[in-house]
Amino acid sequence: TTISPLIAGNWKMNGLTHSLEELSELARLLTTGEAPRALVVVCPPATLLAAVAAQGASSGILAGGQDCHTDASGAHTGDISAPMLADAGAQFVIVGHSERRADHGESDGDVRTKAEAAIGAGLKPIICVGESEAQRDAGEAESVVVQQLANSIPDAAAQHEVIVAYEPIWAIGTGRTPSLDDIRQMHAVIRDSLVQRFGGAGETIRILYGGSLKPVNAREILAVDHVNGGLVGGASLLAKDFYTIISAV
Ligand code: G3H
Repeated sequence: TTISPLIAGNWKMNGLTHSLEELSELARLLTTGEAPRALVVVCPPATLLAAVAAQGASSGILAGGQDCHTDASGAHTGDISAPMLADAGAQFVIVGHSERRADHGESDGDVRTKAEAAIGAGLKPIICVGESEAQRDAGEAESVVVQQLANSIPDAAAQHEVIVAYEPIWAIGTGRTPSLDDIRQMHAVIRDSLVQRFGGAGETIRILYGGSLKPVNAREILAVDHVNGGLVGGASLLAKDFYTIISAV
């Protein structure tokens, strides 16, 4: 099965109006060079989502949210719902990022309900999993990730497009990455678990790698079996670096 690659940039809590100049530069790079092989998604803070969706449209840049509430609307001050993200022009939403799991105490069950809410609003959820350094050192990385997948991915993934992002927590923002063999091994384990649960549909779910993906390591990491793209944090903030990663697919 061939899966079209996807590269998503997660701006996290970075980006003010002037960051849209970086987006214009990315659009310029994407439309002047050879057409990218990868689908390109930018997940800005919610304040910039509508602008990114509008401005990205002409260059094929798709917009995504960074989180959504489980409910569609209601008394949840400060939260944002999946239908609101869709209304602002998003087509994707990250759910269960390790920073959400850590900072907001989100459980696998919460992540699964958020993914269901996203699907219900017509969004494609990018469901994040990944082990901590202590879990890897204890030899538990694979079992932790398999359990997160089982509990965070909704059954609806059999009929609706979802994306999985494997992000070892210790590789996020640290400049450290697993070895290519470790990435290959984990992505194979994730693929097996998706196929076991979803059969043929599990063959087509994209599995992104995230964690210190940079221009210098993108080509080798993105070439690993069952790595169907990347989820990029820091290196997505500069158009030139993000474009280099996109072009490495
Ligand atoms: O969502 C993105 C990841 O957390 C990776 O972040 O590329 O800055 O390590 P990073």
